[in-house]
Amino acid sequence: MKGIVLAGGTGTRLHPITLPVSKQLLPVGNKPMIYYPISVLMVAGVQDILLITRPADVPMFRTLLGDGTHLGLNISYAEQPHPRGIAEALIIGADHIGQEHCALVLGDNIFHGTRFGRLLQSETRTMDGCTLFGYRVPDPERYGVGVTDEDGRLIAIEEKPSSPRSDLAITGLYLYDNEAVDIAKNIRPSARGELEITDVNRIYLQRDRAKLVDLGRGFAWLDTGTPESLLQAGQYVSMLEERQGVQIACLEELALRMGFIDAESCHRLGERMAGSGYGRYLMSIARELAS
Ligand code: TTP
Repeated sequence: MKGIVLAGGTGTRLHPITLPVSKQLLPVGNKPMIYYPISVLMVAGVQDILLITRPADVPMFRTLLGDGTHLGLNISYAEQPHPRGIAEALIIGADHIGQEHCALVLGDNIFHGTRFGRLLQSETRTMDGCTLFGYRVPDPERYGVGVTDEDGRLIAIEEKPSSPRSDLAITGLYLYDNEAVDIAKNIRPSARGELEITDVNRIYLQRDRAKLVDLGRGFAWLDTGTPESLLQAGQYVSMLEERQGVQIACLEELALRMGFIDAESCHRLGERMAGSGYGRYLMSIARELAS
């Protein structure tokens, strides 16, 4: 399965902060926002990742992540000059996807919950068509929502409904089989001029090949789109990390735990950042897992 992180967008709700810098490079706790969606792909076992950003932001993402070799990943880059919609990621990423399945994640989505990796690995193994992930929210009218029947089967998808029939928001993580590329190429821009991911998902639903997994209670799906929610997401991450003594979305640690790199490499990566708590954490994890 190939991975795509869509990290373009103009971040208008965060202006002026996002005038010179991508939203997805802003800090959430002690690490850049982009680490969180990349960690989602990594725990799903995906190592071949395309990062789509605004043209001007590519050099900064490259400085941060390089070609991903140090993490046992293969990271490549593509540009989305204008935010023409989430579904455009499937068109920009068509060559990268090739004949494979694809996991698409939005660059500003933060997921946190136990056994998430196991859930994703089992969903990718059994996927047939497309798999979406739902999260119950108090304000479903702001989101694309999934309506399910009493057996939990997805029966409708509504985009920003004024009278929502469900409070299950569809999150920014989508698993697709290879047909998604053709579907995306054949949809038309919506009234707001975007290629809507909801239209792609609706086509899968019409073909009876869309599944919605409720992430359930005890799981966190965090918003980072406004100054307040960005700050809250950072506080949430920092608080959990401090109380539990573990890092969330620490890419080097994940690479080690997933077997993408060895403990010695992880330690070396920590040494390079030994001036920060993050770097020292890497060194201690590497020592712990080496013994
Ligand atoms: P949005 O929150 O819709 O847009 P934005 O991030 O530019 O912020 P704002 O609404 O404040 O202007 O995007 C959600 C995520 O999807 C975010 O990570 C950016 C990404 N995205 C793209 O990269 N390209 C697109 O065409 C769209 C629609 C979104």
